[in-house]
Amino acid sequence: MNTLVIYDSLYGNTEKVANAMAEALGKEAKAVKVGQVKAGGLKDYAYVLIGSPTQGGRPTKAMQSFLAGLTEDDVLGKRFAAFDTRAQAFIVKLFGWAAPKIEKALKSKRANCTAQPQGFFVEGTKGPLAEGELKRAGTWAKAIIAGLPTNLMPGEFNVKTKE
Ligand SMILES: Cc1cc2nc3c(=O)[nH]c(=O)nc-3n(C[C@H](O)[C@H](O)[C@H](O)COP(=O)(O)O)c2cc1C
Repeated sequence: MNTLVIYDSLYGNTEKVANAMAEALGKEAKAVKVGQVKAGGLKDYAYVLIGSPTQGGRPTKAMQSFLAGLTEDDVLGKRFAAFDTRAQAFIVKLFGWAAPKIEKALKSKRANCTAQPQGFFVEGTKGPLAEGELKRAGTWAKAIIAGLPTNLMPGEFNVKTKE
């Protein structure tokens, strides 16, 4: 199944997560930065995983405008899942995270979202990624393509998210 992982990244952590997902899925998957996806660029893909750093509780501006530009035709017949990277500090929980907002934007285009939005943690503000997150990213992506219910997986797949 062809999978496109679309990401944005300021400090490189979300890029690493996206690449880990594409690598785990093998040669039928690729990761591209959000600015490189052209209009109609989803058409060859059955699965589209979309991820952004959480900034002020939201996806980046570039990701927000990409999502705003998607049409119902772009998303028709595909399966989507949203992820983000986020800090671990208590205070940031007040603002929510990017992945649920990505999902909300996708659903507003009538996209079929097949997994709970997922967050991957960075240390501090700029990273690096917390230990084990790249492996978890690969496992999450494989579970989605395999049709497994990621919300029932053991360990940190049950990270709480809110809008
Ligand atoms: C301007 C700015 C705002 C941020 N706001 C949040 C936030 O609201 N919640 C959060 O969990 N992390 C926040 N962070 C931390 C980012 O989520 C973190 O830098 C990001 O996950 C790193 O991913 P990247 O290396 O791909 O940019 C913020 C970072 C920046 C630079």
